[in-house]
Amino acid sequence: MSTMTAAKPAATTAAAPALPPCDHKPRPYTGPSKKEVLDLRREFLTPALVTYYRDPLLIVEGHMQYLFDETGRRYLDAFAGIVTVSVGHCHPKVIDAIREQNERLQHTTTIYLHPNIALLGKKLASTFPKGSGLSVCYFTNSGSEANDLAVLTARAKTGNYDVIALRNAYHGTSPTSLGLTALATWKYNVVHSFGIHHARLPDRYRGHWGYDDPQAGAKYAEDVHDLIRTATPGAVAAFIAEPIQGVGGAIEMPPGYLKAVYESVRAAGGLCISDEVQTGFGRTGDNYWGFENHGVTPDIVTTAKGVGNGTPIAAVVTRPEIAQALKQRLHFNTFGGNPVSCAQALATLNVIEEEKIQQRAKEIGAYLQTGLRDLQKRRRTIGDIRGRGLMLGVELVEDKNAKQPLAPAKMADFFERTKDLGLLIGKGGLSGNVLRIKPPMCFTKPDCDFLCKVLDIALSEIEKA
Ligand SMILES: Cc1ncc(COP(=O)(O)O)c(C=O)c1O
Repeated sequence: MSTMTAAKPAATTAAAPALPPCDHKPRPYTGPSKKEVLDLRREFLTPALVTYYRDPLLIVEGHMQYLFDETGRRYLDAFAGIVTVSVGHCHPKVIDAIREQNERLQHTTTIYLHPNIALLGKKLASTFPKGSGLSVCYFTNSGSEANDLAVLTARAKTGNYDVIALRNAYHGTSPTSLGLTALATWKYNVVHSFGIHHARLPDRYRGHWGYDDPQAGAKYAEDVHDLIRTATPGAVAAFIAEPIQGVGGAIEMPPGYLKAVYESVRAAGGLCISDEVQTGFGRTGDNYWGFENHGVTPDIVTTAKGVGNGTPIAAVVTRPEIAQALKQRLHFNTFGGNPVSCAQALATLNVIEEEKIQQRAKEIGAYLQTGLRDLQKRRRTIGDIRGRGLMLGVELVEDKNAKQPLAPAKMADFFERTKDLGLLIGKGGLSGNVLRIKPPMCFTKPDCDFLCKVLDIALSEIEKA
């Protein structure tokens, strides 16, 4: 996320396309006005909080892939609470599960037995490939905590300290995960990344080896090998990467890259961590987990966001002998495995299965990509379209040949206009010029058509400006 640079609004010429029909009627909103909320926020909340849009949105209700503001206006949500609402806002089966749990018992911690955490552990473990050994879960509350814990586990297990992450990666903002993160916009002037090395980003759009090079994966992987050889004691604790970078702008690891890197890391005694905070739960369409698209099996998987459909829950999943390393000392998390969060996550995983959400991400994602590629033929500002399933990125540029990122003021105008037309999307990448399209996976083809129409209008106005 980043705040928007103020610039003159783009000329608004085209009429708003109609949103696909929806029979949900939002309840009348009776809370404080948008101005009052903004004032309260300015006075009582940290200024570190940022909002999207020059005129921030007050969102007060959600129904599946739609969000409603305080006036009852409906928006198509193509960002899913930052890739978190997997099966739809307030999905009825998820709501039923937490309502029941809330009325019965809300919290005890893991010092007593409770069925929900045990049942969720079993369910989550069942989603990993048979034979992967990934069968032991540690539940936390956020992706940052999960990544902290994964690194701690790897260090405890291997006895090594050095960790390798990728440039342009986002792994969270707690101390260790901020060290793993390598996007300058998030780095503070504190001691950071001690013992963490950031390898070259295998970016086939902007990097040295492109989409047309079948050996790109192996060539980029060489950098990790060289990093271990030159910048570590020759032994590492872990390598961590997302199969498709999320905040970094939907950059997918090239074919063969993870395989080659995992070999180098394991040869140096390290464990391989796949950060699946954004790429899990069928979102990439082809497989349930992003790493499966790359023919590798990590030693540790971290997940958050989509597992809970909006409740704060995350997990570290690993093999039993690796999990054993945390028995050396005490380790505890007060809210990790909370009965209500576990009820919500269990219901979410069941819906993903029952409603064939992964298949849906594949089909609807393919349809959306076709629409976006068609748009790219007409719009000179679309430099690259990438990603899989319902985890897509559209990189906006000034010029397709020079690949210069779209200027921040134009990006701000474009972004404001998409919101005014009724579409909510995300943005990412170091220059904030990559559209992040990662909707609730109940998205439909008419939603995709609406999205493409809005992008077309907003981009055509930017191109004329
Ligand atoms: C890939 C990835 N890992 C970790 C995190 C951190 O998760 P959280 O914000 O829940 O701490 C994020 C958050 O955006 C993420 O995208």
